[in-house]
Amino acid sequence: MSNQTFKKRIGCIGAGYVGGPTMAMIAAQCPDYKVTVVDINEKRIAAWLTDDLPIYEPGLLDVVKKARERNLFFSTDVNGAIREAEILFVSVNTPTKTFGEGAGKAADLQYWEETARNIVRVSTSDKIIVEKSTLPVRTADAMARILNANEKGIHFEVASNPEFLAEGSAMEDLLHPDRVLIGTRETEKGLRARQEIAAIYAHWVDPSRIITSNVWSAELSKLVANAFLAQRISSINSISALCEMTEADVGEVANAIGKDRRIGGKFLNASIGYGGSCFKKDILNLVYICENYGLHEVARYWESVVNMNEYQMRRFVLNMVRSMFSTVSRKKIVLLGFAFKANTGDTRESPAIYVARKLLDEHAELIISDPKALDNARAALAGSERPIAFEVDPYRAVQGAHAIAVLTEWEDYRRLDYQKIFDAMTKPAFVFDGRNILDHKRLFEIGFNVFPIGKPGLSHFK
Ligand code: NAD
Ligand code: UGA
Repeated sequence: MSNQTFKKRIGCIGAGYVGGPTMAMIAAQCPDYKVTVVDINEKRIAAWLTDDLPIYEPGLLDVVKKARERNLFFSTDVNGAIREAEILFVSVNTPTKTFGEGAGKAADLQYWEETARNIVRVSTSDKIIVEKSTLPVRTADAMARILNANEKGIHFEVASNPEFLAEGSAMEDLLHPDRVLIGTRETEKGLRARQEIAAIYAHWVDPSRIITSNVWSAELSKLVANAFLAQRISSINSISALCEMTEADVGEVANAIGKDRRIGGKFLNASIGYGGSCFKKDILNLVYICENYGLHEVARYWESVVNMNEYQMRRFVLNMVRSMFSTVSRKKIVLLGFAFKANTGDTRESPAIYVARKLLDEHAELIISDPKALDNARAALAGSERPIAFEVDPYRAVQGAHAIAVLTEWEDYRRLDYQKIFDAMTKPAFVFDGRNILDHKRLFEIGFNVFPIGKPGLSHFK
């Protein structure tokens, strides 16, 4: 199709974990729309043009292949894409600020603002600007002011369309979203933008799942959704500590409470703690906003979700050291899994980074294994003064090891031959199951000393 025959031209700035998959899905579902994804990272864009995509996400390559070069294009020509687009999604990263006012909590909006100023500079026609990035409430308002302060007579209508996909299930989440949220102004132009954005998703999403709100509600809903999800994990993790002291089993407790339909069974898996690029960042952002409005109790309430997560990771490492006779110095410890969750190669804010660093501080010898995340693991631990081995094959990784710590819930780890693993390890052999995915009783029978999360350990030492 030539440029003229496409019904609409959509652009997306930022070809990361969100921009890439969301735009691939839109392009695959909307053959009548031209979708161009741009990024300043040349390496990333080059990889999007191959079958070796820059991110690992089940099912992504099939969707990309369906649309690539048909109506889905990847490019480093950011200005060209801005100029051409009628609807421009912005999906750049919004990390936590590391300097000045709000350091450690507030969102660092420099990338977003830089993008907004660039949009003004190069645009020659009216556009709908869609925030896909997760931003603090009222950012759209600030952006609209920057964008509409132009002297070219161009109108930019800023809308918020936060993304709720989870990594590892991104394509499924995009194909069957619980909801698509579109926040716009209630003005004539705002409502027209709302319709245009809804029309994209209506290609494959049931209209009842496309919900609308004002811009601020949409922005806040994104932060609150992540805060609630993380809160559930911190809540069950807090109970896991109590279970370990009292011989209750956190899995049984989670199952019992989850059967109550008001509570529901999801997001109640006790773990070493949540990771990922967004939970901590988004909650801290919420905390910062609350503090700004003088709502200190509200801020402390949400901050405790992050504190509990850090406590859980700390507790896990402490338990490892204590269980292994209060020293791990020069002991070989295999970390099974380094990604922040299964089915992704992403290690951003992975609890494995914390666990690895703490064990290295204790002079443990680490062997890190993961089916998809070893490159990112290497980068995350670069500069460590102590040697670290990286081994994709778990059986090779465990040779002579004193302990295994399961840090990512990869399905394959359930199916390993633990007798073979036990035979290859130094005795006494330990398993610390940070994800509660293994058969603890069976491991104990094989001879392991087993330490799950949220249930008393099974030790051969009395
Ligand atoms: P990412 O770091 O993977 O991707 C962001 C991309 O933007 C990078 O490739 C970067 O090079 C590019 N970029 C930055 N500034 C640019 C500029 N001026 N011009 C062109 N490209 C630029 O980040 P991500 O994980 O995709 O997250 C993006 C946003 O989406 C964040 O706000 C995040 O909170 C939110 N979000 C992420 C997820 C997730 O699962 N990762 C889910 C929902 C929402
Ligand atoms: C999360 C949200 O689920 C998405 O809706 C949201 O769009 C996204 O953040 C975002 O804004 O970035 P994601 O971080 O990709 O998605 O993955 P989750 O499945 O939410 O898992 C987050 C962390 O919590 C992982 O480390 C996971 O292992 C952990 N987790 C999850 C638990 O420890 N227990 C659980 O029961 C569930």
